[in-house]
Amino acid sequence: MRKIVLVYSGGLDTSVCIPLMREEYGYEHVITVTVDVGQPAEDIEMAADRARTLGAEHYTVDAKELFVQHFCWAAVRANGDYQGYPISTSIARPLIALKAVEKAKELGAQAFGHGCTGKGNDQFRIEYILRTLMPEAEIVAPMREGRKLPNGSREPWTRSEEIDYANAHGLQIPQTHARIWSIDENLWGRSIEGGRLEEPDYAPPEEIFQWTRSLENCPDEPCSITIGFELGVPVSLNGERLAPLELVQKLNAIAGENGVGRIDIMEDRMLGLKVRENYECPAAVTLVAAHRALEALVGTQAELKFKASVDREWGELAYRGLWFDPLKEDLEAFIIKMQERVTGEVMLRLYRGSITVTGRRSSYALYNADLASFDSKTFNQSESLGIVKTHGMQSRMYFEIRRDEQRRLGRPEGDLLRLEGEVRENKGA
Ligand code: ARG
Repeated sequence: MRKIVLVYSGGLDTSVCIPLMREEYGYEHVITVTVDVGQPAEDIEMAADRARTLGAEHYTVDAKELFVQHFCWAAVRANGDYQGYPISTSIARPLIALKAVEKAKELGAQAFGHGCTGKGNDQFRIEYILRTLMPEAEIVAPMREGRKLPNGSREPWTRSEEIDYANAHGLQIPQTHARIWSIDENLWGRSIEGGRLEEPDYAPPEEIFQWTRSLENCPDEPCSITIGFELGVPVSLNGERLAPLELVQKLNAIAGENGVGRIDIMEDRMLGLKVRENYECPAAVTLVAAHRALEALVGTQAELKFKASVDREWGELAYRGLWFDPLKEDLEAFIIKMQERVTGEVMLRLYRGSITVTGRRSSYALYNADLASFDSKTFNQSESLGIVKTHGMQSRMYFEIRRDEQRRLGRPEGDLLRLEGEVRENKGA
């Protein structure tokens, strides 16, 4: 019997893939793997139920701890961001694919299926891992290929065709049960797209949010928290040492209750398509804000400037799912080295959707209250004169050259000092 491992979320698309694997692709033995990265428990249970109803051999793999320790924490160290939001879906995909490969090797399957369409990012992220770890395996993507028509050509599946097909295979899905939003969820964030959200000028309705309170429903009092970091990753919350998973779960609850972490953006997908995305990521937003505040205390000016561009590159590689890319490894070598000093505490105030850093401390702080305040004896201000005199030397030389030029051309020297608009006006007159 030909075996295939289906990367399985339990949604309609991937469910339709189960009978399709048998009927169209010739895989009699379908193994579904659902990787738990913190999606709702109901989703995990529904996936198992649906897979069994459709005759698959089903596995649920709990990868929550791995996800936080190896993926979310890497994102914290790199202030993991893409176009202004903390990346979440993208960092879960490599782990999901990795677990599917593990299962395939364990069960002797030589093929993978997934439910990604041809428009999104996940096909890239998932197939990159599958092709990296098991280059010999076959990969089938029925949703990308489309529905086979009697004349042999193919066209994209419609939702109603998928429901009919599922019903015909014993999975009862009511036609009336219209899917309004497309949601992807893991511990690091919740992404909501589709439906009327595809209209960029349509304000997100309150019903799409699950993790965060609306500003009007937040507590009246601000909530003060302290986050402890060691080597660039969070280790404690309000002085209590917590395991990574627990810390993220608790912080999602606390920050979410205070309305922190809602983001509404236009995002550029890998293929260049724009998509309107709404995110809820209370813990991620809070931890990255705290982490940045601590880096600002312990990093040199040059390090911080350089790291901003390193972080940006890292975020793009992670967004594209290139988890084992050499550049990503190189960037991480720098990041990890610098994080040796990102140890300390950050105090924050969460209040009606806002995060304010109210304090930070570290034994690696490159900040000395004595030096910064001007009344100290450790710093002789008159010694600054020598440096001030050479400040902007090259730009002063440049100005000199232009002044000579003005004189040669018989133009008023004052022109050099006027703002551009003024000069133009002058010439016109
Ligand atoms: N656009 C984001 C990404 O590519 C999230 C997509 C999540 N999918 C969803 N159906 N909400 O990482």
